[in-house]
Amino acid sequence: MNTSREVPIVELKHVTKRFGDTVAVDSLDLSLPPGTLFGFIGPNGAGKTTTIKLITGLLQPTAGRVFVNGIDIRHEPERAKRLIGYVPDNPFLYDVLTGREFLRFVGRLYRMDASLVERRIGELFELFQVGSWGDFRAEEYSHGMRQKIVISAALLHQPKLIVIDEPMVGLDPKSIRLVKRILEYQSRMGTAIFMSTHTLAVAEEISSLVGIIDRGRVIAQGTVAELRRLSRERHRTLEDLYLELTTSPEESQREVERWLNMALPPLLREMLRPESRNERVLLDQ
Ligand SMILES: Nc1ncnc2c1ncn2[C@@H]1O[C@H](COP(=O)(O)OP(=O)(O)O)[C@@H](O)[C@H]1O
Ligand SMILES: [Mg+2]
Repeated sequence: MNTSREVPIVELKHVTKRFGDTVAVDSLDLSLPPGTLFGFIGPNGAGKTTTIKLITGLLQPTAGRVFVNGIDIRHEPERAKRLIGYVPDNPFLYDVLTGREFLRFVGRLYRMDASLVERRIGELFELFQVGSWGDFRAEEYSHGMRQKIVISAALLHQPKLIVIDEPMVGLDPKSIRLVKRILEYQSRMGTAIFMSTHTLAVAEEISSLVGIIDRGRVIAQGTVAELRRLSRERHRTLEDLYLELTTSPEESQREVERWLNMALPPLLREMLRPESRNERVLLDQ
């Protein structure tokens, strides 16, 4: 009945991480109930990857403490890491290994029983529809297939918590949909998920809880419905709120311009200029 007595799956207490003069994570407090699909949203450089590396024990905090399922990752790193499946933002596969060989290798790292590894590989390959690709070398994989194998590797030892850093970057729409479905499915099966993203839409669609981080601080946290309510009180959309919280007006203007510059091929931009439209009209006549 009393959910507050549940041990949080992830708990950060006043966690700070400095790199020289840069404060990447600034006295962060975070507590996630088990089973949460947490979307950790923030612009580039906000401190998402650093937070993730602190949770996975790859970095030590300058100050504060990190607990995974109640275990202090600094004091009992091995025990805590067994509970975590980690998918980094630049996932690594050995090009000369097949997906299946890579998963066997990961199974050995986790000191899993060989027959259990084989069973899990079978289950995961079926779930992710890897098919015969499982026996091709990684050098032949599409980005989407690499992501399937890397996520399979993170799930192999049936972790309580998946930590996944910017899972959708560089994926085509079909693979994005697949990764979303995988995360939702794992979450329904009771695995907690800590997912970072700089894309609001991704977090909004699948997260049960959302945290917005900017300059190393969590500046808003709640369910998507709660954040929507907050944004309705002050703005039209959640995206407006996100942009307002995380960028100054001049920065968001520049952001839009940068995006336009990237998204529109130069020729198209040229055509959209009012004066060149007139030229076209003249040429067409
Ligand atoms: N190893 C490092 N050395 C120095 N500065 C770093 C290092 N890692 C991250 N930073 C800085 O910390 C801040 C947060 O970075 P990061 O956690 O990677 O942000 P995000 O993942 O949200 O884009 C940035 O200013 C970044 O330049
Ligand atoms: Mg990052």
